[in-house]
Amino acid sequence: ARALRVALLGCGTVGSQVARILLDDADNLAGRAGARLDLVGVAVRSLDAERDVELPDGLLTTDADALVADADIVIELMGGIEPAKSLILRAIAHGAAVVSGNKALLALDGPELYEQADAAGVQLSYEAAVAGAIPILRPIRDSLSGDRITRVLGIVNGTTNYILDQMDSTGAQFDDALQAAQHLGYAEADPTADIEGHDAAAKAAILASLSFHTRFALEDVSCEGITSVTADDIAAAAEDGYVIKLLAIAELLTDATGAEGIGVRVHPTLLPRTHPLAAVHGAFNAVFVEAENAGELMFYGQGAGGTPTASAVLGDVVSAARRRVLGGPGRTETTTSQVPALGIDAVRTSY
Ligand code: NDP
Ligand code: HSE
Repeated sequence: ARALRVALLGCGTVGSQVARILLDDADNLAGRAGARLDLVGVAVRSLDAERDVELPDGLLTTDADALVADADIVIELMGGIEPAKSLILRAIAHGAAVVSGNKALLALDGPELYEQADAAGVQLSYEAAVAGAIPILRPIRDSLSGDRITRVLGIVNGTTNYILDQMDSTGAQFDDALQAAQHLGYAEADPTADIEGHDAAAKAAILASLSFHTRFALEDVSCEGITSVTADDIAAAAEDGYVIKLLAIAELLTDATGAEGIGVRVHPTLLPRTHPLAAVHGAFNAVFVEAENAGELMFYGQGAGGTPTASAVLGDVVSAARRRVLGGPGRTETTTSQVPALGIDAVRTSY
């Protein structure tokens, strides 16, 4: 059977889970991708650090350059701007498909990377960059491309939702809740990006760009994080029937002259407890989309953490592999196994 060479850059919270699934679920992935996905190397900073995954000998390397030069698919899960950006550009120049979860880089330099990928005719996909496991970018870019989106409201940062939710439901202190979020693998390497709203702002820029077919960069997003939200604010909101959520908002607005434009912002927001987004707890995320013809849609799921995020990464990897094997957009028939249908005796009646 055909095999594709997969290079993984980064083996931290997310990368380790991507490596684990690539190794443990290789047969199923091969069936769905139409080719074996051979993990040929994993680039890290330190060969001696403890890992959440057991890798076959010889897979870890500190030579990311060499790995990228010889791969069909490159998965970038290092984070940060450099060397991630140069490695992605090199992978594209070598003709590799690239999958990344690096919203900070995409919000800053996305257009340059997309142009290079288009010029080289390779796929650059980044579903994991916004809202972890939730499939949100492809639905906005593809499924809703025949509609006109008018507003996107999102809880798109798991760390801050976890902190605010802990403060609201258990009376936890801000610092304790942040430490727990770091321990659970939700926070960025530097959690300032989470609590100051910069991570949500990067995601807002990506969501706004896809929703409104315009390029929005980080500097187009006005941003306020949650560092000034106090326990008293949360208690006062609760007393009035509200909950405080950090929202990323992108919406079609009309100015005083009647001209239309898009407002993109991130800030703590008071939501009535009856609003669907108020029921999003812990590190879960949700994106509420309003479109002219579809009306209201809501996408919900785990927004952070190694394993949920790895799901989104692997979806992109399988999709890139399919395109590589089959050319064009892939195939319509995607069944690859013969799992039998069970009779009524096996059916549950409550969920
Ligand atoms: P971690 O900090 O846990 O892991 C980063 C990995 O990259 C480590 O293995 C590190 O090596 C390696 N690395 C960093 N710099 C270099 C370098 N210069 N050369 C070689 N290797 C390097 O990050 P996460 O897994 O949490 O996040 C990875 C990316 O995914 C980020 O862009 C993040 O924003 C994004 N993301 C994270 C989510 C999450 O829930 N954590 C969710 C969605 C997206 P070493 O181990 O040796 O230090
Ligand atoms: N630090 C991010 C968050 C990871 O808490 O949402 C997922 O992008």
